[in-house]
Amino acid sequence: MQEELNILIQAQYPLIYLVTSEEERAEQAIFTIAQSLKPQRRVYVWTVTHGIVEYGQPRNVTQHNTVSPEAAIEWIIRQREPGIFILKDLHPFIDAPATTRSLRDAIASFKGTQKTIVLMSPMQQVPIELEKEVVVLDFPLPDMGELNKVLNNHIDHYRGRRLTTEAREKLLRAALGLTRDEAEKVYRKAQVTTGRLSEEEVDIILSEKKQLIRRNGILEYIEEDATIDAVGGLEELKKWLKQRSNAFTERAREYGLPQPKGMLILGVPGCGKSLIAKTTSRLWGLPLLRLDMGRVYDGSMVGRSEANLRNALKTAESISPAILFIDELDKSFAGSTGSSDSDGGTSSRIFGSFLTWMQEKKSPVFVMATANRVERLPGEFLRKGRFDEIFFVDLPTPEERQDIFKIHLSKRRKDISRFDLEQLSKMSDGFSGAEIEQAIVAAMYEAFAQDREFTQLDIIAAIKATLPLSRTMQEQVTALRDWARQRARPAAASVAEYQRMEF
Ligand SMILES: Nc1ncnc2c1ncn2[C@@H]1O[C@H](COP(=O)(O)OP(=O)(O)OP(=O)(O)O)[C@@H](O)[C@H]1O
Ligand SMILES: [Mg+2]
Repeated sequence: MQEELNILIQAQYPLIYLVTSEEERAEQAIFTIAQSLKPQRRVYVWTVTHGIVEYGQPRNVTQHNTVSPEAAIEWIIRQREPGIFILKDLHPFIDAPATTRSLRDAIASFKGTQKTIVLMSPMQQVPIELEKEVVVLDFPLPDMGELNKVLNNHIDHYRGRRLTTEAREKLLRAALGLTRDEAEKVYRKAQVTTGRLSEEEVDIILSEKKQLIRRNGILEYIEEDATIDAVGGLEELKKWLKQRSNAFTERAREYGLPQPKGMLILGVPGCGKSLIAKTTSRLWGLPLLRLDMGRVYDGSMVGRSEANLRNALKTAESISPAILFIDELDKSFAGSTGSSDSDGGTSSRIFGSFLTWMQEKKSPVFVMATANRVERLPGEFLRKGRFDEIFFVDLPTPEERQDIFKIHLSKRRKDISRFDLEQLSKMSDGFSGAEIEQAIVAAMYEAFAQDREFTQLDIIAAIKATLPLSRTMQEQVTALRDWARQRARPAAASVAEYQRMEF
């Protein structure tokens, strides 16, 4: 990004919008660029409290009468020397006609001068009048190199011992995804907790990071103990995932493989979509971050929702390689289809920014999305090339049902030889994985209440007492199947098996 900013400034772009909440870091980066230019440029910073102050000067050394945004911009227009002018948090004022107008005047007057305005703010807000003139850049979170400096400062300060290369890398990797201030804070916390900072403190840092990420409320770190073997059936899907276990390694890049982008799992409720997404994290050894779309939406302020999404994606990218898990995608973007303008178009804008991000992302963030109402999904998601693959998870086949019974019984009892899995499978035609699990649990309650061990007959009784969703919602399930058969790849063993299934 620094590179890109440098180029934009040298190419005399008049107006750059830098989205960041890390003002200090971003100012330093701009100052470094300004000094590397020939001729060097002065850097000025405007805030609504102090007006314009030259970078590095005390706050009271302010230019007269530059507190109001228009006055500040007028002052900038009058400057003859080359310079970079940072306007911090202009976003609440930017829509005012006078502000927008004076920015346009500034842009027009900058032709042939070496002057650049940088708008710096944690959220992006650009009036239509300026959309064509402004370049928006995201200021990324610190990379390994920058975190290394933070770590070195920390070690100097505490006069810590030298770290081995591996220990250093682990400590740096653990802090990826944090801002510079946060990284400083977690290193300090680890130091204070155990009196040192070594490889053994990595867990402290990771758990701090999880808390920090949770606090921003949109991304959630998910830890799943279950392995992919806890998922019954879905052999095709599992094979696909297993084949890609090492897809994010250096070795795969050297081999010439492209980075997987993402997958969409469509399917009938309760058949293991969420479960398989969660277990992929262990299979691939990558962190799993759940993006809660419901929390992205924030009507309190124009642009807030976009800022939320942007921040969440930025965090995911900085932790990458990682899996970004979006459960129930159909619910997240429901508002963006059809003519629902009820939220002032926010959901379609969010949807648009998400698609753009997916399209353009270079970082190894694998998107794993699930959905069960295809008709609610905007068509753009389903277009070829958006996801590497779209899988359809149907109701389990008889063999898959046996497998699921076996998994859930083994989870609860050591010896399951007294159960006739084939019979259970036959009797539970039309059941989802979740319903199979529920039948076992119901049987256990029944027997437990009578103070005895549960049996085959208890499970059969529970099965008989259940009216599966596939029957109560037969129409929806059939419609989904018909739709998916043509457009998605079956997650189970083979297509032939589905075609045999009728109900
Ligand atoms: N194929 C399966 N193998 C083993 N267990 C399963 C399977 N399918 C479902 N289950 C059980 O049912 C639970 C619910 O499944 P899950 O949440 O993955 O369903 P889903 O497909 O995401 O449903 P929804 O569309 O309602 O979100 C799982 O946690 C698991 O215990
Ligand atoms: Mg689910």
